[in-house]
Amino acid sequence: MPLPRIPFARFRYASLTPSWARQPSCLQPRHCAKPHHMRRNSTYTQGNSQAADIRSNSILPQGRVVIPDYPIEINDRKVSVNGKDLPNIWLRDNCQCSSCMHPDTKQRMLDTFTIPQDIAINNASVSDHGVRIEWSDNHSSLYPRALLLQAASPPTQRSIIRLGLPPTLTLWGSEIGHAPPIEHHPSPSSSSSSTLPLAAILSKIRTHGFCYIDATPPTPSATSALLTQIAFIRPTHYGAFYDFTSDLSSADTAYTTLALPAHTDTTYFSDPAGLQAFHLLSHTRGAGGASLLVDGFKAASDLHAADPAAYAVLSSVNVHAHASGNRGISIQAHRGFPVLQHDGATGALLQVRWNTADRAGVELPVHEAGRWYDAARKFDALLKKRENEYWEQLTPGRVLVFDNWRVLHGRSAFTGERRVCGGYVNRDDWISKYKMVTMGQEKVLAHLASG
Ligand SMILES: [Fe+2]
Ligand SMILES: [Zn+2]
Repeated sequence: MPLPRIPFARFRYASLTPSWARQPSCLQPRHCAKPHHMRRNSTYTQGNSQAADIRSNSILPQGRVVIPDYPIEINDRKVSVNGKDLPNIWLRDNCQCSSCMHPDTKQRMLDTFTIPQDIAINNASVSDHGVRIEWSDNHSSLYPRALLLQAASPPTQRSIIRLGLPPTLTLWGSEIGHAPPIEHHPSPSSSSSSTLPLAAILSKIRTHGFCYIDATPPTPSATSALLTQIAFIRPTHYGAFYDFTSDLSSADTAYTTLALPAHTDTTYFSDPAGLQAFHLLSHTRGAGGASLLVDGFKAASDLHAADPAAYAVLSSVNVHAHASGNRGISIQAHRGFPVLQHDGATGALLQVRWNTADRAGVELPVHEAGRWYDAARKFDALLKKRENEYWEQLTPGRVLVFDNWRVLHGRSAFTGERRVCGGYVNRDDWISKYKMVTMGQEKVLAHLASG
């Protein structure tokens, strides 16, 4: 069955326009033929990179070289791909040779600004391997064909590797409970050092927004070892790896027995936690405490379909947040961020930030603030729709790991004593690991110049 496409909104970027004044360039997705508008019940699928084969080799001292059906040509001392000229300064700056780029670290060793502004191509040739250029500064460069094709491809294609986009993003509602994404811990009896099926786990998290790792030893050490195989555990003012009971040891409602509505964590940081893990180690002398998950991308998709103007407000109005429960601490991000954050290059929805308890100011002139509340009320109603809520009672041995930039979490009230452990992993760290284990280092590094 085809899958829904990621919600998408493209914005004008006017650096001097305050965020509250920005409007999406198109609010009529149903009447817009552009492919950027999400289509429900369609599949968000990676495109294939160009795969044209070279038919022959050509040498160019001057003039024009065109190989039939090959998208790279050299014309009037310019390299062009699919008819787009690649600037000489860009080409020279992205020379892949070992004196311009460190072969191991892939760091640029060339001082970009020593390149003559009028750098020119003296000689160029096209081969199976790509394009070789003799430059007017006496340097020689070889550009792999894939690098040039990738650089000239549309942003949505170029950014697949950078963003770590999976082949599909599956948006879900309560029905995910019938077949949730699950992987198994390889050694239920030992507490640590077992190699996890990381590619499978991280692929499921990237595709669905969460994954259970079943048969994990119900201990803090096994849970911590599981997380550190993804990346290091991120410390916050609450500590790093946590192992808590409902004792209000930290001044946050998470440490009580109260019900918690669906929210994302750490909206008070500029860079909210990327992954969060929960492992219920024990629940004695009581009941309740079911876990709630809501796919924020699905709710955003619903909002975009129902009310594009409300979607635009939540995508453009900055909101501030704080964490002030602990004495002497009031953490606030260095700037406000909209509820729905998009990638600047592609417009792809990247992040949902939603925590009503931790919300501080809404960055609108106060007499206009009603606009944000109206839009937020609509989003809130979608997040609380029964069809969008997935409830599950966690049990010892089942670790829940979810994408805190996408999936909201909550829980019902409970009685008795619960012991829960878990931790956070940074967004960039887990996406990096996901890319490495699914795409491979070579592919990731080959796309650095074009992302
Ligand atoms: Fe939370
Ligand atoms: Zn070089």
